[in-house]
Amino acid sequence: MYRRIIALTLIVAGLAVFWVAAQSAAAAPPASKPAAGDPTKGEYLFNLAGGCGCHMGPAGFLAGGTEYKGPFGTVYARNITSDPETGIGTWTEEEIVTALRTGKAKDGHQLFPIMVYPALSGMSDQDAADLAAFLMTVPPIKNEVPPTVLNFPVPPFVAPVPPSATAPTGGVARGGYIVNVASHCSACHTPTLPDGSPDMSKYLAGGPIEGEVAHNITPDMETGIGSWTEENIANFLQTGMRPDGTPAGGLMALVIQGGLNKITDADAAAVAAYLKTVPAVSNDPNAQAQQLPATGGDMNNLPFVLALVAGGLVLLGAGALVLRGSRNKN
Ligand code: HEC
Repeated sequence: MYRRIIALTLIVAGLAVFWVAAQSAAAAPPASKPAAGDPTKGEYLFNLAGGCGCHMGPAGFLAGGTEYKGPFGTVYARNITSDPETGIGTWTEEEIVTALRTGKAKDGHQLFPIMVYPALSGMSDQDAADLAAFLMTVPPIKNEVPPTVLNFPVPPFVAPVPPSATAPTGGVARGGYIVNVASHCSACHTPTLPDGSPDMSKYLAGGPIEGEVAHNITPDMETGIGSWTEENIANFLQTGMRPDGTPAGGLMALVIQGGLNKITDADAAAVAAYLKTVPAVSNDPNAQAQQLPATGGDMNNLPFVLALVAGGLVLLGAGALVLRGSRNKN
Protein backbone atom coordinates (compact mmCIF):
# COMPACT_ATOMS: atom_id res chain seq x y z
CA MET A 1 0.00 0.00 0.00
CA TYR A 2 2.73 2.43 1.02
CA ARG A 3 4.76 1.42 -1.96
CA ARG A 4 1.94 2.30 -4.32
CA ILE A 5 1.36 5.58 -2.58
CA ILE A 6 5.03 6.40 -2.70
CA ALA A 7 5.22 5.52 -6.40
CA LEU A 8 2.23 7.72 -7.07
CA THR A 9 3.78 10.41 -4.93
CA LEU A 10 6.94 10.38 -6.97
CA ILE A 11 5.01 10.62 -10.22
CA VAL A 12 3.07 13.58 -8.88
CA ALA A 13 6.35 15.02 -7.65
CA GLY A 14 7.88 14.71 -11.09
CA LEU A 15 4.92 16.44 -12.68
CA ALA A 16 4.91 19.14 -10.05
CA VAL A 17 8.58 19.89 -10.51
CA PHE A 18 8.21 19.91 -14.27
CA TRP A 19 5.22 22.21 -14.06
CA VAL A 20 6.82 24.62 -11.65
CA ALA A 21 10.05 24.62 -13.66
CA ALA A 22 8.06 25.38 -16.80
CA GLN A 23 6.28 28.23 -15.05
CA SER A 24 9.43 29.79 -13.73
CA ALA A 25 11.39 29.34 -16.96
CA ALA A 26 9.77 32.43 -18.43
CA ALA A 27 10.41 34.63 -15.42
CA ALA A 28 13.71 33.26 -14.18
CA PRO A 29 14.09 34.02 -10.49
CA PRO A 30 16.57 36.84 -9.97
CA ALA A 31 19.94 35.63 -8.79
CA SER A 32 19.42 37.89 -5.82
CA LYS A 33 22.30 38.39 -3.51
CA PRO A 34 21.08 39.77 -0.25
CA ALA A 35 23.04 42.34 1.66
CA ALA A 36 24.97 40.95 4.59
CA GLY A 37 22.63 39.85 7.33
CA ASP A 38 22.08 41.75 10.54
CA PRO A 39 21.99 39.29 13.47
CA THR A 40 20.00 41.67 15.67
CA LYS A 41 17.21 41.90 13.12
CA GLY A 42 17.62 38.16 12.60
CA GLU A 43 16.98 37.49 16.26
CA TYR A 44 13.64 39.25 15.96
CA LEU A 45 12.68 37.04 13.00
CA PHE A 46 13.79 34.03 15.00
CA ASN A 47 11.37 35.13 17.73
CA LEU A 48 8.57 35.65 15.23
CA ALA A 49 9.14 32.04 14.19
CA GLY A 50 8.47 30.97 17.77
CA GLY A 51 12.17 30.37 18.37
CA CYS A 52 12.47 27.56 15.82
CA GLY A 53 11.08 25.33 18.57
CA CYS A 54 11.46 22.06 16.66
CA HIS A 55 15.22 22.42 17.06
CA MET A 56 15.03 22.79 20.81
CA GLY A 57 15.73 19.68 22.80
CA PRO A 58 17.46 18.26 25.84
CA ALA A 59 20.90 18.82 24.28
CA GLY A 60 20.49 22.60 24.49
CA PHE A 61 19.63 25.75 22.57
CA LEU A 62 19.05 24.76 18.92
CA ALA A 63 21.13 21.59 19.29
CA GLY A 64 18.37 19.49 17.69
CA GLY A 65 17.70 15.80 18.18
CA THR A 66 13.91 15.77 18.40
CA GLU A 67 12.57 12.75 16.53
CA TYR A 68 9.75 12.91 13.98
CA LYS A 69 8.41 9.60 12.72
CA GLY A 70 6.04 8.70 9.93
CA PRO A 71 5.52 6.48 6.91
CA PHE A 72 8.25 8.54 5.27
CA GLY A 73 10.76 7.25 7.79
CA THR A 74 12.39 8.99 10.75
CA VAL A 75 13.64 12.53 10.76
CA TYR A 76 15.63 14.18 13.53
CA ALA A 77 15.69 17.94 13.96
CA ARG A 78 19.24 18.97 13.03
CA ASN A 79 21.73 20.65 15.27
CA ILE A 80 21.69 24.24 14.00
CA THR A 81 24.20 25.68 16.45
CA SER A 82 27.53 26.94 15.15
CA ASP A 83 29.37 23.75 16.12
CA PRO A 84 31.57 22.99 13.09
CA GLU A 85 31.33 19.22 13.39
CA THR A 86 27.81 18.43 14.52
CA GLY A 87 26.07 21.74 13.73
CA ILE A 88 26.20 24.21 10.88
CA GLY A 89 29.34 26.07 11.95
CA THR A 90 31.05 25.65 8.57
CA TRP A 91 28.08 26.95 6.57
CA THR A 92 28.25 30.38 5.01
CA GLU A 93 25.42 32.85 5.42
CA GLU A 94 24.46 32.21 1.81
CA GLU A 95 24.34 28.46 2.37
CA ILE A 96 22.07 28.93 5.37
CA VAL A 97 19.79 31.22 3.34
CA THR A 98 19.57 28.56 0.63
CA ALA A 99 18.64 25.90 3.20
CA LEU A 100 16.02 28.17 4.80
CA ARG A 101 14.31 28.98 1.54
CA THR A 102 14.82 25.88 -0.62
CA GLY A 103 15.64 23.05 1.78
CA LYS A 104 18.95 22.39 0.02
CA ALA A 105 21.67 21.60 2.56
CA LYS A 106 25.31 22.64 2.20
CA ASP A 107 26.27 19.18 0.93
CA GLY A 108 23.56 19.43 -1.72
CA HIS A 109 21.06 16.98 -0.28
CA GLN A 110 17.43 17.98 -0.04
CA LEU A 111 16.14 18.33 3.50
CA PHE A 112 12.88 16.67 4.35
CA PRO A 113 10.13 19.32 4.29
CA ILE A 114 9.13 18.80 7.88
CA MET A 115 11.61 21.68 8.00
CA VAL A 116 9.38 24.59 7.10
CA TYR A 117 11.20 25.80 3.99
CA PRO A 118 8.01 25.74 1.87
CA ALA A 119 6.71 28.54 4.12
CA LEU A 120 10.08 30.25 4.51
CA SER A 121 10.58 30.22 0.72
CA GLY A 122 8.54 33.42 0.72
CA MET A 123 10.99 35.11 3.07
CA SER A 124 12.58 38.24 1.63
CA ASP A 125 16.27 38.28 0.73
CA GLN A 126 17.08 40.64 3.55
CA ASP A 127 15.06 38.77 6.21
CA ALA A 128 16.58 35.42 5.19
CA ALA A 129 20.08 36.93 5.39
CA ASP A 130 19.30 38.44 8.79
CA LEU A 131 17.94 35.18 10.17
CA ALA A 132 20.99 33.31 8.85
CA ALA A 133 23.31 35.90 10.39
CA PHE A 134 21.58 35.38 13.75
CA LEU A 135 21.91 31.59 13.52
CA MET A 136 25.64 32.03 12.93
CA THR A 137 25.91 33.71 16.34
CA VAL A 138 24.33 30.80 18.22
CA PRO A 139 26.98 29.32 20.56
CA PRO A 140 28.23 25.91 19.45
CA ILE A 141 26.94 22.81 21.18
CA LYS A 142 28.38 19.45 20.26
CA ASN A 143 25.46 17.11 19.71
CA GLU A 144 25.60 14.42 17.07
CA VAL A 145 22.06 13.96 15.76
CA PRO A 146 21.25 10.51 14.30
CA PRO A 147 21.00 10.46 10.51
CA THR A 148 17.61 10.82 8.89
CA VAL A 149 16.21 7.58 7.50
CA LEU A 150 13.77 8.09 4.65
CA ASN A 151 11.84 5.54 2.66
CA PHE A 152 12.13 7.51 -0.56
CA PRO A 153 14.20 10.36 -1.96
CA VAL A 154 12.98 13.86 -1.16
CA PRO A 155 11.72 15.54 -4.32
CA PRO A 156 13.54 18.73 -5.28
CA PHE A 157 11.77 21.91 -4.24
CA VAL A 158 11.12 24.94 -6.40
CA ALA A 159 9.68 27.95 -4.60
CA PRO A 160 6.27 28.74 -6.07
CA VAL A 161 7.01 32.45 -6.06
CA PRO A 162 10.48 34.01 -6.10
CA PRO A 163 11.06 36.00 -2.91
CA SER A 164 11.30 39.76 -3.01
CA ALA A 165 14.29 41.72 -1.83
CA THR A 166 12.57 43.19 1.21
CA ALA A 167 9.52 42.26 3.25
CA PRO A 168 6.38 44.42 3.56
CA THR A 169 6.98 46.88 6.37
CA GLY A 170 3.50 47.66 7.59
CA GLY A 171 -0.24 47.21 7.51
CA VAL A 172 -2.22 44.25 6.28
CA ALA A 173 0.52 43.19 3.83
CA ARG A 174 2.97 42.96 6.70
CA GLY A 175 0.44 40.92 8.68
CA GLY A 176 -0.01 38.50 5.78
CA TYR A 177 3.75 38.09 5.48
CA ILE A 178 4.02 37.23 9.18
CA VAL A 179 1.03 34.84 9.15
CA ASN A 180 2.02 32.98 5.96
CA VAL A 181 5.79 33.18 5.96
CA ALA A 182 7.73 34.50 8.94
CA SER A 183 5.64 32.93 11.72
CA HIS A 184 3.95 30.34 9.48
CA CYS A 185 0.76 30.48 11.56
CA SER A 186 -0.99 29.02 8.54
CA ALA A 187 1.05 25.82 8.70
CA CYS A 188 -0.68 24.90 11.96
CA HIS A 189 -4.00 26.72 11.58
CA THR A 190 -5.01 25.58 8.06
CA PRO A 191 -6.29 21.99 7.90
CA THR A 192 -5.17 19.54 5.22
CA LEU A 193 -7.07 17.72 2.50
CA PRO A 194 -6.87 13.92 2.36
CA ASP A 195 -3.96 14.23 -0.09
CA GLY A 196 -2.09 16.31 2.46
CA SER A 197 -2.25 19.63 0.66
CA PRO A 198 -3.63 22.60 2.61
CA ASP A 199 -7.38 23.00 2.35
CA MET A 200 -7.46 26.61 1.23
CA SER A 201 -11.26 26.65 1.48
CA LYS A 202 -10.59 26.37 5.21
CA TYR A 203 -7.64 28.75 5.26
CA LEU A 204 -6.79 29.43 8.94
CA ALA A 205 -10.00 27.68 10.01
CA GLY A 206 -8.18 25.26 12.30
CA GLY A 207 -7.54 21.55 12.41
CA PRO A 208 -5.62 18.78 14.12
CA ILE A 209 -1.87 19.18 14.45
CA GLU A 210 0.50 16.80 16.20
CA GLY A 211 -2.19 15.39 18.47
CA GLU A 212 -3.54 18.85 19.35
CA VAL A 213 -6.19 21.03 17.74
CA ALA A 214 -5.23 24.41 16.27
CA HIS A 215 -8.18 26.74 16.64
CA ASN A 216 -10.17 28.47 13.94
CA ILE A 217 -8.62 31.95 13.75
CA THR A 218 -10.82 33.31 10.94
CA PRO A 219 -13.31 36.07 11.82
CA ASP A 220 -16.23 33.61 12.05
CA MET A 221 -18.37 34.63 15.03
CA GLU A 222 -19.39 31.13 16.14
CA THR A 223 -16.38 28.93 15.49
CA GLY A 224 -13.58 31.46 14.96
CA ILE A 225 -12.32 34.57 16.71
CA GLY A 226 -14.79 37.01 15.12
CA SER A 227 -15.72 38.35 18.54
CA TRP A 228 -12.12 39.27 19.37
CA THR A 229 -11.08 42.85 18.75
CA GLU A 230 -7.81 43.59 16.99
CA GLU A 231 -6.43 44.59 20.39
CA ASN A 232 -7.52 41.20 21.81
CA ILE A 233 -5.62 39.39 19.06
CA ALA A 234 -2.49 41.52 19.42
CA ASN A 235 -2.57 41.06 23.18
CA PHE A 236 -2.94 37.29 22.80
CA LEU A 237 0.20 37.12 20.66
CA GLN A 238 2.18 39.11 23.20
CA THR A 239 0.86 37.52 26.39
CA GLY A 240 -0.82 34.22 25.49
CA MET A 241 -3.99 35.41 27.24
CA ARG A 242 -7.37 35.13 25.57
CA PRO A 243 -9.95 37.89 26.07
CA ASP A 244 -11.82 35.56 28.46
CA GLY A 245 -8.69 35.33 30.62
CA THR A 246 -7.74 31.75 29.78
CA PRO A 247 -4.16 31.10 28.67
CA ALA A 248 -3.02 29.52 25.40
CA GLY A 249 -2.02 25.90 25.79
CA GLY A 250 0.16 23.32 24.08
CA LEU A 251 1.90 24.21 20.85
CA MET A 252 0.53 27.75 20.83
CA ALA A 253 1.99 28.36 24.27
CA LEU A 254 5.34 27.03 23.02
CA VAL A 255 5.26 29.35 20.00
CA ILE A 256 4.40 32.35 22.19
CA GLN A 257 6.91 31.59 24.94
CA GLY A 258 9.49 30.57 22.33
CA GLY A 259 9.64 34.16 21.15
CA LEU A 260 6.40 35.29 19.54
CA ASN A 261 5.68 37.22 22.74
CA LYS A 262 8.46 39.59 21.68
CA ILE A 263 6.49 40.64 18.58
CA THR A 264 6.42 44.43 18.34
CA ASP A 265 3.17 46.32 18.90
CA ALA A 266 3.18 47.33 15.23
CA ASP A 267 3.65 43.77 13.98
CA ALA A 268 1.07 42.37 16.41
CA ALA A 269 -1.38 45.00 15.15
CA ALA A 270 -0.52 44.08 11.55
CA VAL A 271 -1.24 40.40 12.21
CA ALA A 272 -4.53 41.33 13.88
CA ALA A 273 -5.50 43.58 10.97
CA TYR A 274 -4.65 40.84 8.47
CA LEU A 275 -6.64 38.22 10.38
CA LYS A 276 -9.68 40.52 10.20
CA THR A 277 -9.41 40.51 6.39
CA VAL A 278 -9.38 36.75 5.82
CA PRO A 279 -12.71 35.14 4.87
CA ALA A 280 -14.75 33.95 7.85
CA VAL A 281 -15.05 30.17 7.67
CA SER A 282 -17.50 28.25 9.80
CA ASN A 283 -15.46 25.28 10.96
CA ASP A 284 -15.22 23.68 14.36
CA PRO A 285 -11.82 21.99 14.33
CA ASN A 286 -12.67 20.02 17.46
CA ALA A 287 -15.54 18.34 15.65
CA GLN A 288 -13.25 17.75 12.68
CA ALA A 289 -10.61 16.20 14.90
CA GLN A 290 -13.16 13.78 16.30
CA GLN A 291 -14.00 12.52 12.82
CA LEU A 292 -10.40 11.63 12.12
CA PRO A 293 -8.79 8.39 13.19
CA ALA A 294 -7.19 8.61 16.59
CA THR A 295 -4.30 11.02 16.55
CA GLY A 296 -0.82 10.24 17.68
CA GLY A 297 -0.21 7.27 15.40
CA ASP A 298 2.24 7.24 12.55
CA MET A 299 -0.57 7.02 10.01
CA ASN A 300 -1.26 10.66 10.64
CA ASN A 301 1.74 11.47 8.59
CA LEU A 302 0.57 9.85 5.41
CA PRO A 303 -1.00 13.07 4.13
CA PHE A 304 2.20 14.82 5.08
CA VAL A 305 4.18 12.73 2.61
CA LEU A 306 1.85 13.77 -0.17
CA ALA A 307 1.91 17.37 0.98
CA LEU A 308 5.52 17.61 -0.02
CA VAL A 309 4.80 17.16 -3.64
CA ALA A 310 1.30 18.52 -3.95
CA GLY A 311 2.33 21.75 -2.29
CA GLY A 312 4.46 22.98 -5.17
CA LEU A 313 1.54 22.53 -7.50
CA VAL A 314 -1.23 24.14 -5.59
CA LEU A 315 0.15 26.75 -3.35
CA LEU A 316 1.14 29.66 -5.47
CA GLY A 317 2.75 31.84 -2.90
CA ALA A 318 0.25 31.30 -0.16
CA GLY A 319 3.17 30.14 1.91
CA ALA A 320 0.73 27.92 3.68
CA LEU A 321 1.95 24.47 2.79
CA VAL A 322 0.99 22.47 5.77
CA LEU A 323 3.58 20.01 6.77
CA ARG A 324 2.73 17.75 9.53
CA GLY A 325 4.88 15.46 11.48
CA SER A 326 3.69 13.33 14.28
CA ARG A 327 5.98 14.33 17.03
CA ASN A 328 7.25 11.37 18.83
CA LYS A 329 6.36 12.18 22.38
CA ASN A 330 8.31 10.12 24.79
C1 HEC B 1 3.07 25.02 15.94
C2 HEC B 1 1.66 25.24 15.60
C3 HEC B 1 1.09 26.64 15.71
C4 HEC B 1 1.60 27.81 15.19
C5 HEC B 1 2.89 27.99 14.38
C6 HEC B 1 0.67 28.85 15.54
N1 HEC B 1 -0.38 28.34 16.26
FE1 HEC B 1 -1.95 29.41 17.03
N2 HEC B 1 -2.62 27.75 18.01
C7 HEC B 1 -2.08 26.48 17.86
C8 HEC B 1 -2.80 25.57 18.75
C9 HEC B 1 -2.53 24.09 18.90
C10 HEC B 1 -3.78 26.35 19.43
C11 HEC B 1 -4.73 25.90 20.53
C12 HEC B 1 -4.09 26.26 21.84
C13 HEC B 1 -4.94 25.94 23.03
O1 HEC B 1 -5.59 24.90 23.03
O2 HEC B 1 -4.93 26.75 23.97
C14 HEC B 1 -3.63 27.72 18.91
C15 HEC B 1 -4.42 28.80 19.34
C16 HEC B 1 -4.40 30.06 18.77
C17 HEC B 1 -5.31 31.14 19.07
C18 HEC B 1 -6.45 31.08 20.10
C19 HEC B 1 -7.75 30.88 19.39
C20 HEC B 1 -8.91 30.61 20.33
O3 HEC B 1 -10.03 30.45 19.81
O4 HEC B 1 -8.73 30.54 21.55
C21 HEC B 1 -4.97 32.19 18.29
C22 HEC B 1 -5.65 33.57 18.23
C23 HEC B 1 -3.83 31.78 17.48
N3 HEC B 1 -3.51 30.48 17.81
C24 HEC B 1 -3.19 32.58 16.55
C25 HEC B 1 -1.99 32.24 15.95
C26 HEC B 1 -1.21 33.16 15.15
C27 HEC B 1 -1.64 34.57 14.77
C28 HEC B 1 -0.07 32.50 14.80
C29 HEC B 1 1.12 33.04 14.02
C30 HEC B 1 1.69 34.27 14.52
C31 HEC B 1 -0.15 31.16 15.35
N4 HEC B 1 -1.33 31.04 16.05
C32 HEC B 1 0.83 30.17 15.18
C33 HEC B 1 -1.02 26.10 17.04
C34 HEC B 1 -0.17 26.99 16.39
